[in-house]
Amino acid sequence: MKVKVNIYKGTPDSKGKYVTYNMDVPPTDMVLDILEKIYHEYDPSLSYRYACGIARCGECAMVINDVPCLACERQIEPEMTIRPLDLPLIKDTVINRRQVFDHIKEILPEPGDIDDIYDSFEEMDEDTSHRKIENSIRLTTCFECMICQSMCPRYRSDDQGFPGPLGLLFLTQMNENPAQRPLSEKDLDMLAASCVGCGKCARFCPAEKKPLHLALELLKHHPAKAVTAHMVDGKTTVQEVDESV
Ligand code: SF4
Ligand code: SF4
Ligand code: FES
Repeated sequence: MKVKVNIYKGTPDSKGKYVTYNMDVPPTDMVLDILEKIYHEYDPSLSYRYACGIARCGECAMVINDVPCLACERQIEPEMTIRPLDLPLIKDTVINRRQVFDHIKEILPEPGDIDDIYDSFEEMDEDTSHRKIENSIRLTTCFECMICQSMCPRYRSDDQGFPGPLGLLFLTQMNENPAQRPLSEKDLDMLAASCVGCGKCARFCPAEKKPLHLALELLKHHPAKAVTAHMVDGKTTVQEVDESV
């Protein structure tokens, strides 16, 4: 199959540009296979990142024909335009994951003390502890691809106030894990002030169990309604997360 691939190449300090490669490849190839071929046969200066090749590590997330996705599970098309996620860039398709994690860490509170886990479970009734365990498991199926973070209209890596959807997910992980910590008033105020509940972050989450849908659901039903009720243009709006996307 003949394919034409336009790939963004550049660094934060250079003027980036799209470079085009035309090649003949097996129709069963994934986009990651194409990147490998370009690197090995056409352009060893191309930078891209991956680890598992089977949609588990989240490292190969990029934007392909305007859709944020995993290069290792995205099938090829006759013409493709490939660029990095809209997050701080290192080079070409490689984003600065460390910078994003550090930024989230600066904003988020520390998890609680793991020694409390048995006491915390004993304080709950059976239904609550069962639900919390199920939620915890589903929330930890996130493999930190950062697609959600790149899609959020309210996230900026230089904004000290909002940790973005991935930070929001980490907060709900802590909240659902009795060994860690519940959401505080401060967390809720921060989320209410920043997240507009638009659901754009969850739309392209490639994780099978959709952890971010659950995180947004949990926040929606939190007594303080942190995410769903807020002021937009002077009006209080309630946004739903569309589970079908
Ligand atoms: S919640 Fe989904 S989109 Fe966000 S980092 Fe985790 S796996 Fe990726
Ligand atoms: S719901 Fe919208 S504003 Fe809130 S974290 Fe997701 S993308 Fe950002
Ligand atoms: S290489 Fe691991 S998710 Fe694509």
